[in-house]
Amino acid sequence: IFLQQWDAQVRPYIEMIDFMRQIGIERELALPSIAVVGDQSSGKSSVLEALSGVALPRGSGIVTRCPLELKLRKLNSGSGWTAIISYNDVRETFHDPAQVESYVRRAQNMLAGDGVGICDDLISLEITSPDVCNLTLIDLPGITRVPVKGQPEDIGDQIRRLILKFIAKKETINLVVVPCNVDVATTEALRMAQGVDPDGSRTLAILTKPDLVDKGAEADILQVLQGKVVPLKKGYTIVRCRGQSDINENVSLAEATRQEKEFFANHVHFRYYVAFNLASLPSLRDQIHIHLSAVRFELKSYDDGPPLEPERMGPYLSKNHIDEIHSKQESKVEKRIYEYI
Ligand code: GDP
Ligand code: NA
Ligand code: MG
Repeated sequence: IFLQQWDAQVRPYIEMIDFMRQIGIERELALPSIAVVGDQSSGKSSVLEALSGVALPRGSGIVTRCPLELKLRKLNSGSGWTAIISYNDVRETFHDPAQVESYVRRAQNMLAGDGVGICDDLISLEITSPDVCNLTLIDLPGITRVPVKGQPEDIGDQIRRLILKFIAKKETINLVVVPCNVDVATTEALRMAQGVDPDGSRTLAILTKPDLVDKGAEADILQVLQGKVVPLKKGYTIVRCRGQSDINENVSLAEATRQEKEFFANHVHFRYYVAFNLASLPSLRDQIHIHLSAVRFELKSYDDGPPLEPERMGPYLSKNHIDEIHSKQESKVEKRIYEYI
């Protein structure tokens, strides 16, 4: 369900962002990435996995111990799957999706040590494949309160500081992951997201584990989904991912998606729920408008066209050439941008 809504409502923006990356806009304004934030074992990695189709390390306890930037790049022609993992001065390439987990675990052990410590250093995993969409996602360690054996006393603060570093950036879209079987109103992840984005313009909440909701609490979850408990401008969505037993039984991602549809279609309380507000990225749109009008203004000042003095023209281009290139580029960029706005 989430993926369908994602496809219809977010994909156009992602394509716009990707297009802007291609034409080099990233040099001038930071483009969005998507960070997941939530309590430990709330289902962050599972949500990322469902979005990306890439099997990440998951499980109980602290599994994600370093920020992991997952750059998905769609291959427009050809076939094949390639991953490049980079951290420190390590840079390794591999071609088997089943190896993601072991490469990431190895990277984490290198950076954060064996065991249960965390580390601020970023692991970057770039995946190129015809089967992914163009997205940059960031998986973060989960929020914890009580240190487990082997963790420093201040592990909770360390993790919160690390998370803040990512979610405070105004170009980051924060996906707050909250399981259905906790008290949503008191969730620290929601509070942290509200702290850095008080008007909620770049915060989305995702409720996970709807199959584990306490009997009788379904009505409360519906209230949350409707924004009646913690109002969020961008609203809530609800997803069901693979549970531990599904993972143990090697249930595929495709099968899990089928089961998710079936779960919601047959759920007495959730089946009527179709509300999703992932429609706009206002700050990005505003920034584009501002940049666009600045560029237009500047273009006006070039009304007379490019310089005619041969020494300022560059070695190969005539004035006509340059005019032609300028007008083509301008209309192409504007057309693409207006298609999306
Ligand atoms: P993270 O620590 O927040 O990254 O959480 P994980 O994605 O590693 O998930 C923690 C555990 O919850 C794993 O065992 C998952 O299989 C399980 N899990 C995630 N989503 C769901 C769900 O929708 N239903 C059920 N029953 N289990 C889930
Ligand atoms: Na976990
Ligand atoms: Mg995780």
